[in-house]
Parts: sequence; C-alpha cells; structure tokens
Amino acid sequence: MKNILFVASEAVPFIKTGGLADVVGSLPKYFNKDKYDVRVIIPKYTCLLSEYLEKMVYKTHFYIDLAWRTQYVGIFELEYEGILFYFIDNEFYFSGSKPYGYIHEDIEKFAFFSKAVLSAIPTIGFKPDIIHCNDWQTGLVPVYLKERFASGEFFQGVKSIMTIHNLKFQGIWDLKKVRDITGLADSYFTPDKLEAYNDANFLKGGIIYADYITTVSSSYAEEIQTSFYGEGLDGLMRSRSNSLFGIVNGLDYTEYNPETDTRIGFNFNQITFRKEKWKNKIALQKELSLDVDKNKFMIGIVSRLTDQKGFDLIAYVMDQICAEDVQLVILGTGDEKYENMFRHYDWKYNNRVSSNIYYSEEMSHKIYASCDAFLMPSLFEPCGLSQLMSLRYGTVPIVRETGGLKDTVEPYNEYENSGTGFSFTNYNAHEMLRIIDYAKNIYYKKKREWNKIIDRGMLTDCSWNLSAKKYEELYEKLLEEI
Ligand code: ADP
Ligand code: GLC
Repeated sequence: MKNILFVASEAVPFIKTGGLADVVGSLPKYFNKDKYDVRVIIPKYTCLLSEYLEKMVYKTHFYIDLAWRTQYVGIFELEYEGILFYFIDNEFYFSGSKPYGYIHEDIEKFAFFSKAVLSAIPTIGFKPDIIHCNDWQTGLVPVYLKERFASGEFFQGVKSIMTIHNLKFQGIWDLKKVRDITGLADSYFTPDKLEAYNDANFLKGGIIYADYITTVSSSYAEEIQTSFYGEGLDGLMRSRSNSLFGIVNGLDYTEYNPETDTRIGFNFNQITFRKEKWKNKIALQKELSLDVDKNKFMIGIVSRLTDQKGFDLIAYVMDQICAEDVQLVILGTGDEKYENMFRHYDWKYNNRVSSNIYYSEEMSHKIYASCDAFLMPSLFEPCGLSQLMSLRYGTVPIVRETGGLKDTVEPYNEYENSGTGFSFTNYNAHEMLRIIDYAKNIYYKKKREWNKIIDRGMLTDCSWNLSAKKYEELYEKLLEEI
C-alpha cells in the first residue's frame, strides 16, 4: 500500500473558489483502493460549510515556530465519501468571510499552512510516500521538506509532487518580508531558488524543490514552456521539462450526472436528451424571466469573471453575440468591469440576456443542463472543468484552442462527421464571433448534425478513470527513483 497525502487550499464539498476544489475533492476517490491510501489536508477556514464544521472531529493540537512567531496548530478529521480529510485549525489565519484573496495576508497564511502540514504529519499516524502539493499556496511544502523535515528520520525518502493548476498565481511578495515570515535562511532567496525578479515566489520554490511537477493538461504543460504562457517562469519550466508532466483533469461522474442530478428538473442521458433536455431550458427561461421558447439558441457561461476567461473578447462583440435569435445566460462573479458589463446587457436585452452575478452550485447545474452551447473563449486555460461539465450535460462547448480546452474539445468537422464542439485558434473577437455564428447555423439549420455532436460529446469519457491511472503510473515512477 502506498500512502499519498494531497495538500491544497480548497476541496469540495467543504470550500470552493474554482476548479482546484473540484479536483482535490474528487481525484482522491478514483485511485485503486487496494494499492493507494490517499488522504487530503486543507485549512479549517471558519467559512467552511457549517454542516461539515459541525461534523469534523478534533484530533490533537500543538505549537509551531514560524520564524519568531509561535503559532497554534489544531488538527481535525472527517471522512467523506471514503476519503479521510484533515483540517488545520488556526483562527488567526483561517477566519474571515472568504478563504483567501488578499495577497498581503495570504503569504503568511500559507507559509504557516505549509509548515503546519509537515509538522502535523507525524502526529496523525499516516506516513506519506508522496506529498502531492497543489498551486502556490502549498509551494513552500517541498521547500520546508527539503530544508528541515527531510533530515529527520520520519521524513526519510518522502517524495513530493507540485501540481500547477494555474501558473498565473505564484504567491509573490517582498523578499525581506518573506524571509521574516518563513524563517528560511538567506541562501534560499537567490534566483536559482525562491527569488524571481527581485521578489520571493512561493510557487517557484515548489517547482524547484518538488521531485516532479505536473500540470492539468498536456497542452498547458507545453505552453508554459513558452514566454506567452510562461508567466515569467518559462525558462524554469523548460529547465525542469524532464520532470514536468501534463495530466488532464477529470470530472466527478457521480456529482455531475445528468441522469441522477437532483439540482435539475428533468433528468436525461445520452439516449433521452432529445426528448428531455429542452424541458430544462423552458424551466430556466421561466425562472430567469427570459422569453419562453424551446427553439431559441441558448448560450451559457459559468465562470470566474476575469481576463483569463476571455471576457474582453466577449465585451468587444457583445452586441453581435446578443442577436435576436440567441439567448445568453451568465453565472459568475469577479472583476467589476465584467460584472457591470453583463448587468448592462441584461438591462439592454432583457428578454434574451440573463446575468446572474453570484455564486450558486445549483444554478450552475441548471445552466449546464439547459443550454444548447457553452461559451469559454479563454486567453489561457490550464485545463478547465466547465467545458467537461457541458459535454457531460449535452451542451456543446464553444472554446478557444488553448490548454485543456484544446485537449478536451474536438472541433466539429462537418465533412467527417466528427467533433464534440466548436473552436477557434486566435485570440480575436471576430474569429470567436464567426465560430459562434457557425455553431448557431448548425443548430438552427442542421438539427440532426447538432444532435450528433451532442451524442459524441456525451459519449466522451471525461471521468477521472484514465487520468487517475496516469497519476498512479507517475507515483510508481517517482517511487522507483532513488
Ligand atoms: P477555474 O478553476 O479557472 O475557475 P474551471 O473550469 O476549472 O475554472 O472550474 C470552475 C469551476 O467553478 C466549475 O466547477 C464551475 O462550474 C464553477 N463556477 C465558476 N463560477 C461559478 C459560479 N458563479 N457559481 C457556481 N459555480 C461556479
Ligand atoms: C485552475 C485553472 C483551470 C483548471 C483548474 C483545476 O483554476 O484555471 O483551468 O481546470 O485549476 O485544475
């Protein structure tokens, strides 16, 4: 039996700000249970869903040093769907109405978390063979592991993996302050270690000190070695390319299943979608006060409203997208300029645009289940889960060919009867508009073709099955290395 400990800043169902939580909350369930004991450790934010806060069990507590500070570390535990989750408690760091988002606080918060995790491991009776870290918030785990923990007997031979879900976010802060916060020696703050462009960089530390690095699609693993996508770290990514692997994300097929989903009014599957799916559309049109018309081409967007997701392209041609024969349903929060843009168009085209500027799991499922197409023209996309959810719910993705979008959506080819969605290459608003119009045309004029696109999409395996196996292979490979 191999022991794997996932370390992350969020995990469903406890706390979620994006796809990272979906991955950390679902992937561990898909490993071969006879061979792997996979557990997860995240912070015990006071804003965690209260039903889980009430259920978790206190295990132990102790104190750690963080440079000159002494801090409390509590450990709680909860088993959920067969996976053991640990929670690090410290209300000084983990209180507030959202888990993170203010970098000046987050730097110390996650330095603490990383050190607390390593300090907690010997007390929970679970010795990991591999510590699997995720994103910059856990970047210091491989650093502290090498710096002090690895020399103790308990941590001998413990390996680490750093998975990059988004290279844009690196945990960058003033070098002197980070030195003061982390207590790491001066020698760690050089350009071959934690320093990048005169600042300290948590993710860079993780990338340098982890044994392997992975990211969430093959294309993104290639892209981040180029200056356009490399976010200033492309040189480092190239230098570590022998230890860099791209493994595409999967979906929790139990959570996202149109046949059993209790959040939608009318369940359907790959056979019954022709008879049932449109009923969800009618229900959503009524709920959102749009014109009720089962034939209207309905495009959905469920997203963080940030530049990453291509909203400046959408803004540029919004009037043209919102044509008379289109309905647009948006669910998202984020940059004010995009929130207000969508509010404006909701007002301007009230009968055909519905902007829902809030966060709701329930509404997201309704949108995936109701729309005809799903628009995701990202500037960059490490993997993307929304397009996978769309495929699963018979909603045809319209995407830009980048990162995971390129790897998971096969472009429709009308001559070969192939493809599961529509895609365009260049980051150009009119190229996007052309492909939306093309999709609309197929929808209105070649309904049988459209339905076959849905057929192929719903048949695509977007589950974790294949990718969990790839992680297992990678774990084996790493554990064979001396
Ligand atoms: P990212 O992690 O970059 O935000 P992903 O596509 O990997 O992008 O994952 C986004 C996840 O967050 C999906 O599960 C999506 O349904 C969900 N999501 C985004 N915005 C909202 C929202 N406003 N309400 C509900 N779910 C949302
Ligand atoms: C990040 C990426 C997204 C990816 C998710 C989970 O938030 O932006 O593309 O799907 O992480 O890996």
